Amino acid sequence: MTSGVGLVRLTVNGQPATENLAGACAGFAIPGCTFLLSGGLGAGKSTFARAFVRALIGADEEVPSPTFTLVQQYGPIDRGGVDIEIWHADLYRLGDPDEVLELGLDEAFGTAICLIEWPDRLGSFAPNDAIELIFDFAADKGAGSEVREVIARVPDKWRADFAAACEKAGVEVRGPDE
Ligand SMILES: Nc1ncnc2c1ncn2[C@@H]1O[C@H](COP(=O)(O)OP(=O)(O)OP(=O)(O)O)[C@@H](O)[C@H]1O
Ligand SMILES: [Mg+2]
Repeated sequence: MTSGVGLVRLTVNGQPATENLAGACAGFAIPGCTFLLSGGLGAGKSTFARAFVRALIGADEEVPSPTFTLVQQYGPIDRGGVDIEIWHADLYRLGDPDEVLELGLDEAFGTAICLIEWPDRLGSFAPNDAIELIFDFAADKGAGSEVREVIARVPDKWRADFAAACEKAGVEVRGPDE
């Protein structure tokens, strides 16, 4: 494990819990904060991103999956005198990591809040101080279960904020070995 990064396991009990977690994360995120959202088809990445955007922009905001556009931008909105922009990317169809530059994502990592689905496509452009959430279906539950297991890799600089967000959302947090 990289030093300066904490690993925790979360059990997210239903879609509303994922949405609450996303809303609580939106509460502490500032420009320059990136969430890398990994996991298989239907694991919950877009559900997290949609709730995150709506928490900041407004509950009625249309948040389409950027499957074909690759990137959707929201804002800027004013939060406490700070202009906040959100970039939501779905990089499943990204052909080459160099397209990250064409999309302007490398710059956005420094200036916006970024939510990135399929971040493995970023190659070396992935910011190393990002919060990484890996969504998976709960192994011991049947098909159609709404329970998700999430592995979170959280850099030290976000550790306290992320722990508080989990608590606020009522999400169960365990250490890496439990
Ligand atoms: N705990 C949960 N968290 C998130 N979504 C859940 C949960 N339980 C059930 N779901 C359902 O699982 C689906 C998750 O779909 P979502 O689009 O978020 O997945 P995704 O990871 O973005 O997949 P894709 O890679 O296809 O874009 C939704 O239909 C949602 O209602
Ligand atoms: Mg998705």
